[in-house]
Parts: sequence; C-alpha cells; structure tokens
Amino acid sequence: MSGEAMVVGFLLYSHGSCRDNNPFDCEENVNYPVKDSVFDTLFETARTYNQWQDRPIDDALLKRLYDLLKWGPTTANTCPGRFVFVRSQEGKEKLKPHLNAGNVDKTMAAPCCVIVAYDTQFYELMPQLFPSRDMKPIFEGKPELIQEVCMRSSSLQGGYLIMAARALGLDCGPMSGFNAQTLNAAFFPDGRWQANFLCNLGYGAENGAHPRNPRLDFEQACELL
Ligand SMILES: Cc1cc2nc3c(=O)[nH]c(=O)nc-3n(C[C@H](O)[C@H](O)[C@H](O)COP(=O)(O)O)c2cc1C
Repeated sequence: MSGEAMVVGFLLYSHGSCRDNNPFDCEENVNYPVKDSVFDTLFETARTYNQWQDRPIDDALLKRLYDLLKWGPTTANTCPGRFVFVRSQEGKEKLKPHLNAGNVDKTMAAPCCVIVAYDTQFYELMPQLFPSRDMKPIFEGKPELIQEVCMRSSSLQGGYLIMAARALGLDCGPMSGFNAQTLNAAFFPDGRWQANFLCNLGYGAENGAHPRNPRLDFEQACELL
C-alpha cells in the first residue's frame, strides 16, 4: 500500500463516528461512494407521486434513463425488461380503458407513463447478451423457467428504472392497478411482450404525494444469521 493510501485509509477509518473501524457502521457518510444527499434523492425523501407539474420529458432524457437502468443486473444477463414510454395523447387514450378507476386521472396528467413489460422470447437475444456461451437452449421451450426469469428480472429492471429516474431528477408513480389482459391485447397483440407494471414519470407537483406511510423496522424485516 502506498503511503498516500495509508494516510487516506487512516483518515477514513479513524473518523469518530465509526465503530470498530468498520466504514459500514458509520453514522456519517465518511466512506460511502456517494454523497449523503443521494440517499435522500433515491430513498429517504423520494416519494410516490400522484400529481404532476406541467413539464414534459424529452426523448434525450428517456434515452439517458434507459442507458442507466440497462446496467442493472438480471438473471444470466437475460435483460427481459421492455419499456414502452407512453407520452402522446393518442397513446394515453389507448392506455386509459385498461386502468383502474383510481389510476386514470393521474396517468392522463403525467408527462409519461411507462409500460414496464417483459419479452417472453428474451432468449432469442442471448447470443448478443451472453456471447461467451450458448445460453438460448437453457431457456427455449421451458415456459415455467421463462416466466420466472421474466417476472423476476423485469421487476428488478422496473426497480432500476425507478432509481435511475430519481437520479435524473424525475419522480415516479408505479401502478399495478390495471387490466393486464386487455392492455396486453391492445399494446402487444402478437403476445410476445407482456406488461409487468406501469410507472408514471414526471416532475411531482407540490403536495402531489399522499402522507408518507411507515416502513417495517430492521428487526421486523431482516434476520442476521
Ligand atoms: C408495484 C407497485 C404497484 C403499485 N400500484 C399502485 C396503484 O395501482 N395505484 C396507486 O395509486 N398506487 C400504487 N402504488 C403506489 C404505492 O402505494 C406507493 O409506492 C407506496 O405506498 C409507497 O409510497 P411512497 O413512495 O410515497 O412512500 C404501487 C406501487 C408499486 C411499487
């Protein structure tokens, strides 16, 4: 270790709020790779929005959003998530009849609603996604495995989308309140892509979120083995 690295290490690990010199026990952010404000932006003050500012989202921002979320890990790099960004009035009208009543107004008012979908034939792209090994036969013709991979990894990719959107200054309003059968028939008539969930995107209006509900404590939700 260089002298400089030792000095930096000493300064980081000897900070007063660290216990046992373990940087992950720090109460203050002395050794995390991101600034404290990032935890707010992504998690602690980030909210689910139901009302939106009248501020559009351009193509470049949506491309940036995808170019971030695509790096999140998926099963065997299958990347089954597909994303339909509905912004036009025509697209919104197509979406409307499939939404639960409580989700209609906010979706119509949002600058964008993403259909987070998955490709039930994701394995066709495995030569591109996993060039070092022939992965297609592992999945092809195995509907239960395909469905499991699709749901698990497209849900993860939907989560990456939410976090990437927040990192780009956007707010989200995820929704499972819609008729998947009729929406799939309208948007994906050949049946290859299937909707997982919807997510409104935009810039949240002031007071556009419900009061914050509590979360489970560490002791309730976690085990240390
Ligand atoms: C997968 C998913 C489905 C959801 N479905 C709906 C929905 O159909 N309608 C709705 O109003 N909110 C829906 N929500 C919003 C949640 O109720 C909200 O994210 C949660 O209460 C946390 O709110 P907060 O981020 O403001 O703390 C959904 C959220 C997720 C992640």
